[in-house]
Amino acid sequence: MALYTIIAAVGENNEIGAGGRLPWSLPADIRRFKELTIGHAVIMGHRTWDSLTVRPLPKRRNIVMTTSHYPIGNGAETAGKVQEAVAMTQNAENEVFVIGGAQIYSAFEPLSHKMYLTRVHASFAADTFFPIKDFSNWQLIEENFVSKNHENNFDITFQTYEKIDK
Ligand SMILES: NC(=O)c1ccc[n+]([C@@H]2O[C@H](COP(=O)([O-])OP(=O)(O)OC[C@H]3O[C@@H](n4cnc5c(N)ncnc54)[C@H](OP(=O)(O)O)[C@@H]3O)[C@@H](O)[C@H]2O)c1
Repeated sequence: MALYTIIAAVGENNEIGAGGRLPWSLPADIRRFKELTIGHAVIMGHRTWDSLTVRPLPKRRNIVMTTSHYPIGNGAETAGKVQEAVAMTQNAENEVFVIGGAQIYSAFEPLSHKMYLTRVHASFAADTFFPIKDFSNWQLIEENFVSKNHENNFDITFQTYEKIDK
């Protein structure tokens, strides 16, 4: 099976989305997201797909989870079930990124072996929250703090977690 990696930016109260968008603008986080995901397949939910301003995400295989049978077009593939997305990516030569939103993080957490989280050190009005709250299966292996600056309005910490084999 391919290796699945979750990538998310998360506020202090587990916020990830508001009104179908990200609650913040953080160019440093977008840059890291691109560096990590370019060249890989990315799996996302239909609502996250709808929220993208540029789609498909360039230089990545875009797989959109949806239960509707309408082709999404625009160079993206669709999967109607987790197992379908797994079958579509079984021959992936490098890790496959699970890029949200909440429903998709939940669905793929059992299959994922790694997580890249950007902790945003502020709280936000939000309607969508990161669903993974139990980190007993996850070990923090690296973190880097980045102070707010002229382009990023909030302090952030880039974290890498690996799943603990039990
Ligand atoms: N902070 C971050 O890192 C981050 C990352 C990504 C997204 N977001 C934000 O999160 C919000 C969107 O998240 P969300 O949880 O509302 O929606 P989502 O997970 O992006 O998409 C939900 C949709 O995906 C499809 N879906 C979900 N589970 C499925 C399954 N098991 N099989 C097949 N299809 C499935 C369904 O589409 P159909 O209705 O078509 O069946 C469902 O309505 C937005 O605000 C977005 O900006 C934040």
